Amino acid sequence: MLLEIDNLMVEFATGQGPLHAVRGVSFEVREGEVLGVVGESGSGKSVTAHSILRLLPGNGAITGGDVRYQGSSVLAYSPNVLRAFRGPKVSIIFQEPGRSFDPIYTVGRAIEETLRAHNPEMAEDEVRERSVKLLRETHVPYAEQRLHNYPHQFSGGLLQRIMIALALASDPDVLIADEPTTALDVTIQAQIIDLLLELKDKRNLAIIFITHNLALISEIADRILVMYGGLVMEYGSARDVLDRPRHPYTRALLASLLSLGTHYTEQHLQTVHGGTPDPRRPEPGCPFAPRCPLAKMQCREAVPPLVEDGTRHRCIISGEKPEGLYARD
Ligand SMILES: Nc1ncnc2c1ncn2[C@@H]1O[C@H](COP(=O)(O)OP(=O)(O)OP(=O)(O)O)[C@@H](O)[C@H]1O
Ligand code: SF4
Ligand SMILES: [Mg+2]
Repeated sequence: MLLEIDNLMVEFATGQGPLHAVRGVSFEVREGEVLGVVGESGSGKSVTAHSILRLLPGNGAITGGDVRYQGSSVLAYSPNVLRAFRGPKVSIIFQEPGRSFDPIYTVGRAIEETLRAHNPEMAEDEVRERSVKLLRETHVPYAEQRLHNYPHQFSGGLLQRIMIALALASDPDVLIADEPTTALDVTIQAQIIDLLLELKDKRNLAIIFITHNLALISEIADRILVMYGGLVMEYGSARDVLDRPRHPYTRALLASLLSLGTHYTEQHLQTVHGGTPDPRRPEPGCPFAPRCPLAKMQCREAVPPLVEDGTRHRCIISGEKPEGLYARD
């Protein structure tokens, strides 16, 4: 297995006490496969992604579980091994472009610095040649000229392509794309998805694609992980999760998507009544209970375990298959 996340737990120290951002998340990433990670704001998607690379801020810590790359624990890596892991093995497109680019440097400089950092022996001519190639590979027109531009001189769609080029400069096996299309309009979103799929095939790249948008995931993912309140709610092949969802939350997401067509955004989730849980005060039971139309007393007593039945899902009514509750049933 290329990458295994095993019962990962992450906490942040805050003025109001510990915040349990990730509460035991497990999944695998296989070579050349797209894993779609979907969940509402605050469900722990970015924190999970940053934990894989051990890029948590000072007040954050991995308090349990493991991250394994080709069987070895990333959490045990020495600083040198970690440097050779971040980028050449797993690379990330950050949710905030400001974490990828410094606005005072040209995008060419950012890409060249990444190439030099990972290939100290590379001649300067080759550094420049490879930078142009990366922009061509991500279909940035006038690649040679555009390397001299600053991040603010690009449209959202082009900057996203350049962020992908920058993430590929270290020649990774796994690319984490954290909300790579959220700020883009639907046509540009589709073009970025096409680009990622092209790169996946060409480079045999594994992709962790993080988004709020289940419609987008259905276009790109081989497997899907549904997160809620720092927990895995459902995990399985895209076909099983989309065609035979077992968890009421996944069903609710799909129902809101179907009733709204494919132009689904986070706001539409308001059709699932209620807000997301407060990670500083996790409820003892299922975090979805306050919004779940099927909730019983028992759901509020303890976090339900994950069960395997078609998909891996976390719900006490697994197998009861309530009919007619959502449009999809
Ligand atoms: N540095 C931090 N200090 C304290 N809490 C944090 C910190 N970073 C993230 N959190 C909290 O951790 C939880 C998970 O955050 P995360 O960024 O992973 O959510 P997300 O699923 O990526 O949401 P979004 O879709 O909005 O990007 C949230 O409650 C968030 O407020
Ligand atoms: S465990 Fe209970 S509250 Fe949670 S999703 Fe299942 S039925 Fe709903
Ligand atoms: Mg995020």
